Amino acid sequence: MSILIQNGRIIDPVTGLDEKSDILIEGDTIRKVAPNLPVPEQAEIIDAQNCIVTAGLMDMHVHLREPGYEAQEDIESGSLAAAHGGFTAVACMANTNPVVDNAAVVRAILLRAAEAGHCRVYPIGSITKGLEGKELAEIGDMVEAGIKAVSDDGKPVKDSSVMRNGLLYAKALGIPVISHCEDSDLSTGGSMNEGYYSTALGLRGIPAAAEEIMVARDCILAEATGAKLHIAHVSTAGSVRIIREAKARGVCVTCEAAPHHFSLTDENLVGYDTNLKVNPPLRSKSDVEAVIEGLQDGTIDVIASDHAPHTREAKEVEFDYAPFGISGIETELALVVTNLIQPGYLDWMQALKKLSVAPAEILGIPLSGIREGSRADLTVLDPNLERKVDVNLFKSKGKNSPFNGRVLKGWATATIYGGKLTAGKAWNKQHKS
Ligand code: DOR
Ligand code: ZN
Repeated sequence: MSILIQNGRIIDPVTGLDEKSDILIEGDTIRKVAPNLPVPEQAEIIDAQNCIVTAGLMDMHVHLREPGYEAQEDIESGSLAAAHGGFTAVACMANTNPVVDNAAVVRAILLRAAEAGHCRVYPIGSITKGLEGKELAEIGDMVEAGIKAVSDDGKPVKDSSVMRNGLLYAKALGIPVISHCEDSDLSTGGSMNEGYYSTALGLRGIPAAAEEIMVARDCILAEATGAKLHIAHVSTAGSVRIIREAKARGVCVTCEAAPHHFSLTDENLVGYDTNLKVNPPLRSKSDVEAVIEGLQDGTIDVIASDHAPHTREAKEVEFDYAPFGISGIETELALVVTNLIQPGYLDWMQALKKLSVAPAEILGIPLSGIREGSRADLTVLDPNLERKVDVNLFKSKGKNSPFNGRVLKGWATATIYGGKLTAGKAWNKQHKS
């Protein structure tokens, strides 16, 4: 079966191409990229008029919850949600049960993901056994089994000596360490950002310093070891500044921001909606401004959702007792378009780079982009499509979105993974001469 994508504006951050063209896909391969291609017999047609066609998007920070927490999400539902969000690849975190700390779990995830077939799934192994922060996990074995990075995400690696050893091992194995930066002595018991609103709402705060201390520590360890460090979910102005300075000194550090951290502030918590409870927490207006500045000047390399699905029952409790996390992969692209591109903070090429090329580079995954002979992993998006977020339409089991009911602009209309339509519609047209 072939697919013809007609009349789209191709914006490909891999090749730098920005032009109007058709794309013909045969099997799993891009066969032709040229305007006004003839319609082959039995082709499926995607009308991309007024749409953007780009290299398949990658989200390097999601929680798929399998094995162990399948009531929240599983690989089938999470990877289908990714496809519906416009993604052809995700990297999934290790805080499952059992933890991804050995090769057997890595292989099981890869197998389940291949069976599901909705997108590429790159497992991330843990840094420490059982995420306990004490003994290193079987990192070498896991690299052989296919992990692209290690991370104890969800928990910090508190012991600096363990973190340093993790960095040294990862360096020897050629993979990055993704750090969840949180000083747990400062954050424990907190459920939102420490500041005016935590005082007003009577909730225990998590200070910006809890994040920044660990960002600084890990930049120092990355500099000392020469290892590749990637900081997850940067949320404060101080973190952005520390990373900017470290980069300027030549430290091998990259980082990401999540859509909720450039779209919402701690002021939004006045209704005590537990869907806004996330770690790191939603910060102040000046932090959001700094995150946007970091995205603009390249300090923040990547946009990643930190997709963290939870059950309704778990979230329907008092704020203090609710788990941290936002189900984010199906609103990610629309939040980028609505809150970064529409206001003019980022242009398309910049934004799409942070959603494909940059995470791929960090994880060491080669991308060949939109050219003849490349693998057909593509995302078609309509920048003007307005749609109200409805969590009941999510493919994710996690309905915990604070954006439910909001109208956002700019959605994926078709996702093609290995030449297969994994989300969106195409229509069949017999060739008319
Ligand atoms: O909000 C969060 N949820 N932050 C994390 O670091 C972990 C994640 C989860 O696993 O639910
Ligand atoms: Zn996470």
